[in-house]
Amino acid sequence: MALTLGIDFGTSNSAAAWRADGGPARPLALEGDAHALPTAIFFNAEERKTHFGRDAVTQYLAGTEGRLMRSLKSLLGSALLLETTEVNGQGMSYQDIIGTFLKEVVARARAQTGAEPERVVLGRPVHFVDDDPQRDALAQQMLLQAAQAAGLRHVGFQLEPIAAAFDYEQRLDREQLVLVTDIGGGTSDFTVVRLGPQRARRGGDRGSDILATRGVHIGGTDFDQKLSLEQAMPLLGFRHVGPQQREVPSPVFFDLATWHLIHWRYGPRALREAQALRVNYSDLTLHRRLMTVLEQRLGHHLANDVEQAKIGCSRDGHTALLALDYIERGLSASLDAPTLTHHLAPLLQRVVQCALDCVQEAGLQPGELDAVYLTGGSSALTPFQQALQQAFAGTPLVEGDLFGGVAAGLVYGARA
Ligand SMILES: Nc1ncnc2c1ncn2[C@@H]1O[C@H](COP(=O)(O)OP(=O)(O)OP(=O)(O)O)[C@@H](O)[C@H]1O
Ligand SMILES: [Mg+2]
Repeated sequence: MALTLGIDFGTSNSAAAWRADGGPARPLALEGDAHALPTAIFFNAEERKTHFGRDAVTQYLAGTEGRLMRSLKSLLGSALLLETTEVNGQGMSYQDIIGTFLKEVVARARAQTGAEPERVVLGRPVHFVDDDPQRDALAQQMLLQAAQAAGLRHVGFQLEPIAAAFDYEQRLDREQLVLVTDIGGGTSDFTVVRLGPQRARRGGDRGSDILATRGVHIGGTDFDQKLSLEQAMPLLGFRHVGPQQREVPSPVFFDLATWHLIHWRYGPRALREAQALRVNYSDLTLHRRLMTVLEQRLGHHLANDVEQAKIGCSRDGHTALLALDYIERGLSASLDAPTLTHHLAPLLQRVVQCALDCVQEAGLQPGELDAVYLTGGSSALTPFQQALQQAFAGTPLVEGDLFGGVAAGLVYGARA
């Protein structure tokens, strides 16, 4: 039995699916019963053990001594990926850490299927890096190297939105012209594609069914960053005007608001730099909070709270409260629906513009589409759906499997 394994290595969540010759795609439960495995690794310094997914985040939030890594995909294509960092007394590059994560995904897949995959298809965004084809190619190369170092053989790549389209195609009973949108943690990807049961059965090269693909490097982690900078970081001194009538230098706040940069602020040198910012504050309470977050390594905790507030506020339309007692007793922040929409509007406009450009590149008018198919966790964001529906008035928005569709589609695409 030739087994194909599809791995959707996501910025926030990863998923995997497998398929034996000609059979249906089968999603893999990567953590307990859950198909999505948060792309998070925690190196537990107390027991010198490595934890993955929700388990990693839980360990970290419980205050276990160690290091948490999230959003590692965002480092692909940058020189930072090759830098080494010390985890559990061992120097490891971030690329090695990605390899460790992929290896664990394959080990869990192997445990469930009882077989070694003959080939592996990895998803990739339309652009890892915007407007820089060289660095973009380098990013894929870096991911391939990480996969090979993890022992994966016969590795191929497929664009994530095309994989999502092949998954959606499985449920169609007639031909459709569809804009597939995959709004994830790191990127927003689009493809205009002709789908249908007959085309799916015919298989082979589907190149002529794909009318256009576009992507932009904006996703949920950028929304988190923006919301953190607006609603949380001012409590630590972002935009705070000091005794010299100048704002506190902002890099530390940007890093603390950016998932994959947080841990860089915990090193001894970074801590000394943050301490030296004290002279830039006229209200020292704010500086004390900043130092508490850095010294007690609360950055991911805060980022997680902002992310949960984003999701809660979008889903329920209610004001989300962030209780920040772990930074200072009684401290809190909040996020309401109009504020969410307001802060995210410029980013969402760029995402929607990318969707419109994709349709234009396909030579179509928005009204000619049969459906706009939504996948990826951030496609659930209410202000995004509102902006998209406005741009594609009259076209139905169809919600798909938010977290598992790309992985399933990767193995369907592999037969081509
Ligand atoms: N209900 C929701 N509303 C809004 N955003 C959500 C919701 N659920 C999850 N998200 C966001 O979705 C993002 C993760 O989506 P997903 O798992 O599809 O991304 P990914 O595949 O890891 O990223 P990428 O494909 O860009 O590499 C996170 O930023 C998360 O905050
Ligand atoms: Mg994704």
